[in-house]
Amino acid sequence: MSNISYINGVYCNHQNAKVSINDRGYHFGDAVYEVIFYNNGVFYDYEGHITRLYKSLKMIDIKFHISKQQLKIIIKNLIRINRVEFGSIYIQVSRGIAERNHSYFKLNSKPILTMTISKKINNINDNIKGVKAITIVDNRWSRPDIKTTQLLPNVLAKTYANEKNAYEGIFIDHEGYVTEGSSSNIWIINKNNEILTREIDGKILSGITRKTISQFAKNNNFKMLEKKFTKEEMLNSREVFLTSASSFVTPIIEIDNIKIGNGIIGKTSIELRNLYFKNFN
Ligand code: PDD
Repeated sequence: MSNISYINGVYCNHQNAKVSINDRGYHFGDAVYEVIFYNNGVFYDYEGHITRLYKSLKMIDIKFHISKQQLKIIIKNLIRINRVEFGSIYIQVSRGIAERNHSYFKLNSKPILTMTISKKINNINDNIKGVKAITIVDNRWSRPDIKTTQLLPNVLAKTYANEKNAYEGIFIDHEGYVTEGSSSNIWIINKNNEILTREIDGKILSGITRKTISQFAKNNNFKMLEKKFTKEEMLNSREVFLTSASSFVTPIIEIDNIKIGNGIIGKTSIELRNLYFKNFN
């Protein structure tokens, strides 16, 4: 079965799914996006992701006229047509098509909605492996709280991490505090058994998985604080893990060649990962 994508009202084969050379997303990264995970009839954190999509659109002033209900119909159609059992859906809305000009003042362009599906092998019940990470200076613009497609520093950070045989690049701000991963939020469990993740202070994306996991942590009587921590605190912590829509809860066992908690996956990370899956299955 071929891979069917969606572009502005049309369902088409992947190879025919083309956007205009004048799409502002292509020119300027003038677009926002979401990634939603799907497993056998269940979307993970659907409401959270869709609500954030509309919030991002509002934050960069894109006037999008497709309703949440219409969006859901398209998403469900794509899942059905592509016969997806396990995988993710990528949703992007750009400001639209216009001759290249930085300003969108009085532009009246029509937003372009595109969606693609990525089918995956269900590996939820496999033995989870911990991953390695490296740290890198956070050199992003001052609005990483908006989920735009303008991701060049993230792209470079992830590639640099992969070159160093690591899974994730963790951004460190100019004061030595951890902000987030190139495509994830970062958490630690410190020596006092407190679970820490940076507060929503405009310097990180307000992760949807992050929100769900903090709720689980609170409901399950873990000591949970939304508070920033330094790179040193992270390197000296009992456990480190990352969260995202595509990596769920993934333990990090080594950062900058330093082993975290003796390089063994921590039990709290596993407990939270299991709670996450249990919630949706
Ligand atoms: N990225 N921080 C950044 C910079 C991210 O790109 C992501 C997600 C997250 C986690 O957010 P959420 O839990 O809502 O997925 C945090 C997605 C998965 C991506 O770009 O593919």
